[in-house]
Amino acid sequence: MGFGGSNLVIGHRGAAGLAPENTLDGFRRAAALGVDAVELDVHALDGALVVIHDDTLDRTTSGQGPLQAQSLTALRCLDAGGGQRVPLLEEVFSALPVNVGVNIELKARGTAELAVPLAEAELALGRDLLISSFDLEELGHAAALGSSALKIAPLFGRWPGKGWQVARELRAWSVNLSLRAASKRLIGEAGERGLNTLIYTVNDRPTADRLIAWGATGVFTDYPDRLVTA
Ligand code: G3P
Ligand code: CA
Repeated sequence: MGFGGSNLVIGHRGAAGLAPENTLDGFRRAAALGVDAVELDVHALDGALVVIHDDTLDRTTSGQGPLQAQSLTALRCLDAGGGQRVPLLEEVFSALPVNVGVNIELKARGTAELAVPLAEAELALGRDLLISSFDLEELGHAAALGSSALKIAPLFGRWPGKGWQVARELRAWSVNLSLRAASKRLIGEAGERGLNTLIYTVNDRPTADRLIAWGATGVFTDYPDRLVTA
């Protein structure tokens, strides 16, 4: 469990195809299905890290408008699906067995300085932690603040010209690639450079099997039930 093995199955936003995304029900569902890790998205609000994907409330909660227009108290009164609240990062940690890894995706500025101390505390308890972001500046803050045990991953929807340089400067553990960007050549080159590759979002077994055969370390999936093997 965690990020230590191969053929990793990572529950995307918990188990977004099976339960409301980024909710405690979803994270528990993924863990019960036997995922190696879960992935979640964080924003900073009133000094806390809230687990929600969008910077607006409309798609995933009973609220409307920009997340940052809410107080933390008001946000926590909203329904994030099935009567659940938008969780705090600490609540997700408390809900998950320590052998389930957690990938914290930094979705906004001001998240790294809040995420790293919480992640380090979980590392001390024995949980495997990976911090990722499309925002390479915010991810750089996390890399600078964190210990060497804290795994770091730049996220790329398209492979940029300086991808390997970015990964090296961040002391990245993996490069996390969209399905569109993930090629056999790129995955192979990452392996040659000692980098892991995690691919999002993979919801069928043939695609997962192809990526693993190319050397990918693991995949993010909305449907852990389809990919976890006994
Ligand atoms: O971390 C992989 C994936 O979650 C990145 O895209 O939009 O689902 O957060 P998104
Ligand atoms: Ca994400």
